Amino acid sequence: MFRATFYSINASRRAHLTLALTVLVLYATLTSAQSGLQAPTFYRDVLPILQHHCQRCHRQGEIAPMPLVDYQQAHRWAPVMREMVRLRRMPPWFADPNIGKFSDDPSLTDSEIATIVSWGDAKAPAGDPKDAPPPPRWTSGWNIPPPDCVVEMRKPVVIPAHGDVDYTYEIVPTRFDEDKWVQMSEVRPYSRAHVHHAVVYIRPPGSNWLRGAPTGVPFTASSLHDEKLRHEAHSTDSDMLLVYAPGSSPDQWPDGLAKFVPAHSDLVFQMHYTTNGKPDHDRTSVGLVFAKQPPKQRVLTLQLANDHDPIPIPPGAENYRVEVHGTLPNDATLLSFFPHMHLRGKRFEYDLVYPDRRVETLLRVNYDFYFQLSYRLAEPRPLKAGTELRAVAWYDNSRKNLHNPDPNRPVTWGDQTYNEMMVGFFDVAVPANVDKWHFFVRPDKTSDGRNESW
Ligand code: HEC
Repeated sequence: MFRATFYSINASRRAHLTLALTVLVLYATLTSAQSGLQAPTFYRDVLPILQHHCQRCHRQGEIAPMPLVDYQQAHRWAPVMREMVRLRRMPPWFADPNIGKFSDDPSLTDSEIATIVSWGDAKAPAGDPKDAPPPPRWTSGWNIPPPDCVVEMRKPVVIPAHGDVDYTYEIVPTRFDEDKWVQMSEVRPYSRAHVHHAVVYIRPPGSNWLRGAPTGVPFTASSLHDEKLRHEAHSTDSDMLLVYAPGSSPDQWPDGLAKFVPAHSDLVFQMHYTTNGKPDHDRTSVGLVFAKQPPKQRVLTLQLANDHDPIPIPPGAENYRVEVHGTLPNDATLLSFFPHMHLRGKRFEYDLVYPDRRVETLLRVNYDFYFQLSYRLAEPRPLKAGTELRAVAWYDNSRKNLHNPDPNRPVTWGDQTYNEMMVGFFDVAVPANVDKWHFFVRPDKTSDGRNESW
């Protein structure tokens, strides 16, 4: 009773406040639009925001459909920009704001949003070009600094106009004659419209994975004659250099952290292409920036995955839930997450499960198939061996899901985007001399070994 009263007083006070504020804002907008003095200008106020939060994607050759670099471009888009930032649809970011802090969160502050909104309301004035901040120094064609080395698929993959394309592999020798520490890497799809994902694996010279498969030419598992090789294509414990999907950002580790590529390794590109009515070809490449000094810690990419669930997602199901558990075999520091699902993907979360079954959620993503982002912890999280990690995915196979190609069909697990998939990639830091195989040697032989899916 007491509480209810308390809240109602509060609510009515808030209503008055909001009204007062609205009047103030209206007044401010009107006066600024009339006098032209107060309104934000493009060069002084808007351009710095675009440089920091938008041009990574909105510049020539990048993923967004139009550049937002000069005044003409921004002026034309001002009303749409106003709406997109007001609704927080741009820049794209899907983490639940109440859970965790992420260093790569590009979201605008309230005052940055207010700047773009009132600039739009004031008919997008240019202002004085002398107020412009210096243009950012983008590397042409890359979002990382100029790569020390670019490894490109040797032979193009021919992509048909229609139909499914099986996962396509290409093994590319690095020809590194010494060990390399990779501090930054970026996948550049050649045919952006067709590349649904790329996983670049590191195959050290001692690895037997896909030995016998051809090098420097694209192949699919079904094109291999050997049954053992066909099976191997789909299941590997090789370390990953990088995973790419549209919208994802490059890997850029701070000093002291890097991925290890042993001398004479091959990079194995696993490419998933989708067709769109137009034939094309693709030669994806990966750019590498080497660490200036050997790092203290090595980054490993692990996964919590369920891609063999025998149960299909029923037609119309709005909130179909799948979960996967794993225990860390050794101490490691958790760095970042990259959830991957297909068109029915709705929500994805990563949790720590304590021995008393208490659950701490580290990240919850309102999944968008067209923006598969990575989420980097603002404060990396040291975890002890034996820590239980859980990934939970929810799927929407109803017609409420605007991306759903067919709400009347049960959805089985599989590679194609009309099938479903659940992979919770995550990066950890371990001591520099520990590789993935050593990391999985469990000091405690009594552990339950639920690590098949890493
Ligand atoms: C991670 C890449 C990325 C970033 C960062 C980004 N955008 Fe976008 N933006 C896109 C893509 C891709 C599209 C096209 C998406 C679509 O059509 O759904 C888009 C579309 C838009 C549109 C057009 C929407 C329409 O209806 O046609 C506007 C306006 C826009 N972005 C503004 C911005 C602004 C302003 C920022 C920065 C505050 C920003 N974007 C940051 C990738 C990005």
